[in-house]
Formats: sequence, structure tokens, C-alpha cells
Amino acid sequence: MNLKEEILKLKEELDVTLVAHFYQRDEVFELADITGDSLELAKRAKETDSKYIVFCGVGFMGESVKVLDPEKIVLMPKIACCAMARMIDEGYYEENLQKINEAGISNDDILPITYINSSAAVKARVGEMGGMVCTSSNAYKIIEKGLKSGKKIFFVPDRCLGQNFAKSLNLKSAVVGDGTDLNEADIICYNGFCSVHQLFTVEDIEFYREKYEDILIAVHPECDPAICDAADFVGSTSQLIKYITELPIEQKVAVGTEYNMVNRLREKNTYILSSTKPECPTMNETTLEDVYNTLKSIKDGKISEECEIKVSEDVAKWARVALERMFEV
Ligand code: 13P
Ligand code: SF4
Repeated sequence: MNLKEEILKLKEELDVTLVAHFYQRDEVFELADITGDSLELAKRAKETDSKYIVFCGVGFMGESVKVLDPEKIVLMPKIACCAMARMIDEGYYEENLQKINEAGISNDDILPITYINSSAAVKARVGEMGGMVCTSSNAYKIIEKGLKSGKKIFFVPDRCLGQNFAKSLNLKSAVVGDGTDLNEADIICYNGFCSVHQLFTVEDIEFYREKYEDILIAVHPECDPAICDAADFVGSTSQLIKYITELPIEQKVAVGTEYNMVNRLREKNTYILSSTKPECPTMNETTLEDVYNTLKSIKDGKISEECEIKVSEDVAKWARVALERMFEV
């Protein structure tokens, strides 16, 4: 039996659900029981009855499942950490709050919103302060809801997402520490970003527009605001999939998001909006062999501690509040 057959056999024998994000390698993605973007995965993994969730993605995704359902045993074949999520921890969060306070804005005047690409500890701090989580699929709704509090939004950790949604809502944004005026802003952004989505440039868009007159440009909102302004469509992973797969097949489209996902969308007329391959290094860390080893460890009763997601109840309690506030919206 080859590795793929071994995995399928183990999956049948065990009380397990294999989950994979759209950015996973094709060979891993095609074996999963549940695939989706971060929002869909958080919701659907929580709803399964399986005792074990084997999650192929990045650390914050597995953590979200564990926080939402502490009874589940959540295993990640590779606990790979999203580069953006790593840009913020509780210490940096507090430092930024302090800078906001120093600008004359008190914590009572701030409502924090964290992108789901953050650790459970950061989500917990946001939950404790009355805030909530968002994903790129629901950020619009969540920010609108947050603004109803009459407070300024402190948006962490993705500067680009905060700036792009501020623009689309006709609001002002500022970034902590870059010299912009925090008092003037409706949305105050933490200065984090996704290294993969930073690869796309306005020059890439100009290149494709010159080469193919009628080409459309579709990008993820983690791209820089200059890229989103120059694009024809800006959408989350699921929104991009819907937009692109519903285009007539003769319509050319250049896409600014992760390579594995774009590559499997359409047979032709789909281009990567960069001369550099935009692979997410951490999403690509999980191999078929890792998946096999994790399933085998369940079967043998020898689960490696390194693979198991654990979140202390102190942290989980408030992180859950922040996540559930998102689901309520
Ligand atoms: P989605 O929420 O669109 O799945 O995005 C997660 C992510 O990491 C994008 O880079
Ligand atoms: Fe994180 Fe960017 Fe990778 Fe998404 S693509 S998981 S934001 S590093």
C-alpha cells in the first residue's frame, strides 16, 4: 500500500476527522474530510462528532477548534505558526495599548478586534476587553458591529486588513508607531502583515494589464491597500474561489493570494499575480508522511505531545468569548 492508501485505511478505522485549509499541499488537501477557509474550518470542525481532529493548517486554526470545543483532541501533523500571527503576543498587544493611551485615548474608548490569525492568548485579551474575532470573510460585518459601540476599533494584527476595511467603509485608519495620528482614526491598526500577501506589487498588476487588455485582477485583503485599490475584486479565500470559478472560462484573471489554492482553481486563464511563487511556507510544512504519522500515533496509542494542541482554560475561557461573539454576528 502507498502512503495515500494507508492514510485512507487509518481514517476508516479511527474516530477521526481530517481537516485541511485551502492553502495546504494538493496531496494533503485531497484526502481531507473537511476543507475550507479559516472561518468554515473553525465552524465545521467544531460541529463534528469525532473524538480526534487532525488539522492540517497553521497553529491558530487548530487552537481555535480546541478553544471552541475543549473535549476534542486536536492534533496538528505540523504545528506550523502563521508568520502574521507570530508578529503579536500579549506583550506587544499591551505595548501597543500603552502607546494608544499615551496618545490620549483610554481603554474605555477602544474596542479591540483581532483577525483570527492570532494566538489564543491574544484572542483572550481581546475577549476580556469586550472585543471579538473576525476573519477576512466577515471582517466587514464585525467591524460595522464594533463601530456601533461608538468606540475606536483597535485592529490586530493585520495592518492591511484594517486599512482596507477602513477604506471600504469610508473610515479613517492609522497605524500604531508609524507616525499617523491615532486620534483622527476610526480604526487603529497594529503594524503586522502577511509576508506572502506582501509579495504582490502594483508593477505586477501593470504588467498583466499591459500584457492582456481584458484581464481581471483579484486579490486577498491581506494585500497592501495600494494593491487592493488597483484590483478589480478584493475578497477572502472563499470569496475569491467563488468569484474566480464563476468567471467564464475564456476570461483571464490574475490572482494575488496563496499559490496552492490559486493553482487548483481553474484549468486555464488563471495567472499568479507575481513572478515570485507566493507559497505560504508554514502552510506547506505539512506532508503526507506527517499526516500518516499522526494517524498511526492515534492507532498505536502513542500520540506525540508535540502534535497535540493544548490551551489552558484561563486563556480558552476569554478566547472562546471573543470567538463566540464573532459567531453571534
Ligand atoms: P482565510 O480566512 O481566507 O482562510 O485566510 C487565512 C489566511 O491565513 C490567509 O492568508
Ligand atoms: Fe499566515 Fe500569510 Fe500564511 Fe495566511 S498566508 S497563514 S496570513 S503567513
